[in-house]
Amino acid sequence: MKLNKDIIIAIDGHASCGKSTLAKQLANTLNYTYIDTGAMYRAVTLYALRRGLISDHVHTQELINDLNKIHIEFRYNAQLQKAETYLNGENVEDEIRGMEVSRWVSPIAEIAEVRSHLVRLQQAMGKNKRIVMDGRDIGTVVFPDAELKIFLTASAEERARRRYLELKGKGQDVDFDEILKNVQERDRIDSSRDVSPLKPADDAIIIDNTNLGIEEQFALVIAILAVRFGNGIDCLTKD
Ligand code: DC
Repeated sequence: MKLNKDIIIAIDGHASCGKSTLAKQLANTLNYTYIDTGAMYRAVTLYALRRGLISDHVHTQELINDLNKIHIEFRYNAQLQKAETYLNGENVEDEIRGMEVSRWVSPIAEIAEVRSHLVRLQQAMGKNKRIVMDGRDIGTVVFPDAELKIFLTASAEERARRRYLELKGKGQDVDFDEILKNVQERDRIDSSRDVSPLKPADDAIIIDNTNLGIEEQFALVIAILAVRFGNGIDCLTKD
């Protein structure tokens, strides 16, 4: 699919509501780069866990002092055909998805200095447009002028069910109730924090996908793109 100009697509929304699935579909179709900003907060969390900067609470000042020692990048894995997250040169793609990181990532993402550090990196990644970035504050803070903003949501139970199946599929030993509690707790923290709380941008298109299949949702967004940035229906067929 070819659009009539290069754009930034911002996808925000609640935890586990399919943001990355939609973002990857769009990036593939448009030949854009997909950037998972949640992975960046998760990588900082993993760093803090490994350095002993999290005990029963986060040692905030020590973590802030260390921010310039934390290098995060995405490298494309041609075999798996996806970008993977690297923390200081180490592939941490699987480790950042585990329960221990999930448990601590929200308090880490509440720290203003962590956010401004990562937001600067994210803005640099979008300086040439042609990106699909997903997160919580992409349309509101990182790219308030993004040409297309989508805000995804779904019921907490449905999102917990999806995350449960995903982790189970990866062979992790997980408990549904624990995941549901984690999803609800992250919603609460993400939406009520002082810095960049999760909320739809005024000009975001809100999609509740509790009862919407992956392909139906994708078709809906493609139709929106065609109307807004397409050269008529032609753009659906040209590559
Ligand atoms: O999308 P995810 O579940 O991998 O995100 C992990 C956490 O990071 C989530 O609890 C909220 C936080 N986050 C954020 O605050 N801002 C972003 N742009 C992306 C994620």
